[in-house]
Amino acid sequence: MCGIVGYVGPQQALDVVIEGLRRLEYRGYDSAGVAVVAGGEINSRKKAGKLANLEADIASNPLERSSTGIGHTRWATHGAPNDVNAHPHLSEDGSIAVIHNGIIENFASLRDKLIGEGVSLRSQTDTEVVAHLLAKQVLVTPNLGDALREVCQSLTGAFTLVVVQKDNPDLVVAARRNSPLVVGRGQGENFLASDVSAFIAHTRNAIELGQDQVVEITPNSVKVTDFQGNPVDVVEYEVTWDAAAAEKGGYDLFMLKEIAEQPKAVADTLLGRIDLSGKVSLDDLALDKKFLKNIDKIIITACGTAYHSGLIAKYAIEHWTRIPVEVELASEFRYRDPILTPTSLVVAISQSGETMDTLMAMRYAREQGAKVLAICNTNGSTIPRESDAVIYTHAGPEIAVASTKAFLTQIVALYLFAMYLAQTRGTGFGEAASEIALELASMPNKIDLVLDTAQGVKKIAEEIHNANSILFLGRSVGFPVALEGALKLKELAYMHAEGFAAGELKHGPIALIEDGLPVFVIVPPVEDELHDKIVSNIQEVRARGAKTIVLAEEGDESINEFADHIMRLPKCPSLMQPLLATVPLQIFSCEMATVKGYDVDQPRNLAKSVTVE
Ligand code: AGP
Repeated sequence: MCGIVGYVGPQQALDVVIEGLRRLEYRGYDSAGVAVVAGGEINSRKKAGKLANLEADIASNPLERSSTGIGHTRWATHGAPNDVNAHPHLSEDGSIAVIHNGIIENFASLRDKLIGEGVSLRSQTDTEVVAHLLAKQVLVTPNLGDALREVCQSLTGAFTLVVVQKDNPDLVVAARRNSPLVVGRGQGENFLASDVSAFIAHTRNAIELGQDQVVEITPNSVKVTDFQGNPVDVVEYEVTWDAAAAEKGGYDLFMLKEIAEQPKAVADTLLGRIDLSGKVSLDDLALDKKFLKNIDKIIITACGTAYHSGLIAKYAIEHWTRIPVEVELASEFRYRDPILTPTSLVVAISQSGETMDTLMAMRYAREQGAKVLAICNTNGSTIPRESDAVIYTHAGPEIAVASTKAFLTQIVALYLFAMYLAQTRGTGFGEAASEIALELASMPNKIDLVLDTAQGVKKIAEEIHNANSILFLGRSVGFPVALEGALKLKELAYMHAEGFAAGELKHGPIALIEDGLPVFVIVPPVEDELHDKIVSNIQEVRARGAKTIVLAEEGDESINEFADHIMRLPKCPSLMQPLLATVPLQIFSCEMATVKGYDVDQPRNLAKSVTVE
């Protein structure tokens, strides 16, 4: 939701912090700010808008050189995205600066108490309250780490707090609850950040922080305790990708780079986990075979694009294992009093591993006695850390806010799990397993083919970029693809778009069809039992004036006379088609946003990881 960076060491703190914020700006970009400790003072600067605004301000009015600094890019929760509400927030005497990611749910009562004590607050944020509480606390417990531990015990909600104090150069302290924070351990220098991309250029040695923990970093030490001050064991790991992977690599947009990386992302997610006989090996899957054999219900829970990958996986899991699967929006799941038992498996899908709705849903599931399997793209993030087991997708860092390669690799990881389940429970589908394995193995090349034929999409975007609304139709696994195509268009082109189950059109939505309305239709393979039905649906909307953009496999001529535009897909079985049909829709939404002049990588109002409920 916000980007957070802390640094202490021999380098220019401002340079390290600004560079880190640049890599984290995708997490939130309403405003940005920094604070450095120099000459016994805190020097702070903050500006509304993108990081570039802050950089310009500092260039025209430089900050003191310093070895200790913190920085923040904001996605506004409390208070408008303006200079005053930008982080850092300082105590009244300017001795303490705080940056924050999350929501402090009891901030109003804390604020009222402070006002009653004569404190004057400058902003509308919940964060500023912490700066004043810390200024009070250090009068009682002068040690900054102790003061933060005390203050944290009075807060409720989700927070990552990072703090510096003018009398403590070479010290940055931080605390986390329900919000991401990772330590980068360097040589004679140490880092704090929302995710490793902020410091990957300096060190790949990272330390996960757990729930309700406080960390104190100096150039040569990292001390981690719980909120009561008890030392805790930490998990140190090496980040497997390098800084280049988090760069644009010659592309104009992270989204275009990540769309192009999909063949490799799918191949990397398959690597070492399936052989051409169809045998799946998930050796590091921490779910024992007895449990897997006794599962009698699977509930998949996720948000946004991750939710759509769950909708697709439902078809494959039920088809291959005959286990009933429910797919639930994470923000709804725990409020519907779901039926969970020790033989239920909850699958939490999350690219970032920090989405609060999904995190809270999986925590609820575990409290109810269900086991949780995470499908995640971010090593060491909160959701896999708190799950019983995890299958990592190997898509590499996904920087663009609109999720693309993570989506395809989530589908692949879920298919691998479904095959593994079937294998373990003996519902393996004989010959089909090797056919599926061969089809999965062919997907990287087939995705490449789709990428090669995507030029036509730009022309379609230019032709229909003034449309007021665009509909997407699909059946079976094509229906979640239609939902995903619509979501991409909403979040990138800021326009109304809606995905429908094509068979549902006649029950109301067909009233939306009017002359010139663009309608995308995902047509299954010719041999699919639903093929002819959806061709009829194309005729129904075409007869009412729709402009039809049809995605259909090579050689399917049956749709030609009803299509204004055709996007061809390599042949593949129905269950594999989402891995191909999604790609032109990703490119289309990217092109539409570009034609409209919007910021593709950082769309308005959005953030890459939504770490508030
Ligand atoms: C997808 O393009 C969106 N950025 C959003 O819907 C995203 O998929 C959702 O917020 C879930 O994020 P996660 O996978 O990191 O949990």
